[in-house]
Amino acid sequence: MLNKITVVGAGNVGATVAQRLAEQELARTVVMVDVVEGLPQGKALDQWQSGPIEGFDTRVVGANDYGVAAGSELVVVTAGIARKPGMSRDDLARTNAGIVKQVAQQLKQHCSQAIVVVVSNPLDVMCWVTKQVTGFPRERVIGMAGVLDTARFRAFLADAVRVSVEDIDAMVLGGHGDTMVPLISHTTVSGIPVAQLLDRATLDQIVQRTRDGGAEIVGLLKTGSAFYAPSAAVVQMVEAIVRDKHRLLPCAAWVEGEYGLSGMYVGVPCKLARGGLEQIVEIELAADERAALRKSAEQVNESMAAVKI
Ligand code: NAI
Ligand code: 2OP
Repeated sequence: MLNKITVVGAGNVGATVAQRLAEQELARTVVMVDVVEGLPQGKALDQWQSGPIEGFDTRVVGANDYGVAAGSELVVVTAGIARKPGMSRDDLARTNAGIVKQVAQQLKQHCSQAIVVVVSNPLDVMCWVTKQVTGFPRERVIGMAGVLDTARFRAFLADAVRVSVEDIDAMVLGGHGDTMVPLISHTTVSGIPVAQLLDRATLDQIVQRTRDGGAEIVGLLKTGSAFYAPSAAVVQMVEAIVRDKHRLLPCAAWVEGEYGLSGMYVGVPCKLARGGLEQIVEIELAADERAALRKSAEQVNESMAAVKI
């Protein structure tokens, strides 16, 4: 267990992350910071009061400034706004970059040794903003997207094969967007290559539904985006770090030549342990998957170019 974990942004994702962290007792104190007065304080009090029922002793605290977050060993950044009607992707990137920049400046000052897990969208660009502004090494700035995209992929596959989700082993790489790369060549069902169990047309449909996974939920909710699976994905990454598990998970990491890519954040297989990103693991990809990863990285580069820090 860590001493203190801070979650910035007490909205749908942030508050659900805080509750899950407390329920798993991953820290003695979980701090929620948000700009809206009373929101993090009210949600924190409510969550703390669920402790006697759920059986956790983690103290959940809310605040509008970073004083109480000082010295956090791990920070999850979920601050930002959702895309509004009429807003382009680049508009959203610029607005959220302004928010994440402010957050990162505070983290540099108050939580200078923290490992930061970024969630705010557009994910790969916000990871870059966080790394640039904090000056933290790549080991300590990691993005959550691949675990979520992979969970969606696994859920759809399990449904199609009619097996437990636990039997599906898969990875989705690339940027968190339309160009993400589900790795069919490395997807197995209890060790059996998935292509032996599902035909190509079904697999293609599942890949497309995975790529559209976020939009499908926005289309249903209308006023917000997904948060149950995203928060579960964040906490899986946090748990791997806190418990020093050396888990191999798809995460957004700053690449320095791996997969022939550098100078950007993109989803790649990452080993997570107590120090944060322990290693980017390079695996052999099918030729079409390698080309798709390169294309996805190009899209991340274009989004980065739209933002000035
Ligand atoms: P939300 O709107 O429910 O919550 C965002 C919170 O951030 C609000 O409470 C707002 O007051 C707060 N906030 C805004 N500016 C702030 C600042 N300067 N400092 C602290 N807090 C600030 O949104 P939700 O659903 O929680 O999503 C949060 C972010 O996570 C969005 O950018 C969303 O697109 C992204 N997301 C990313 C996923 C991924 O796979 N990487 C998955 C799901 C969401
Ligand atoms: C998702 O994939 C909105 O990025 C978010 O659900």
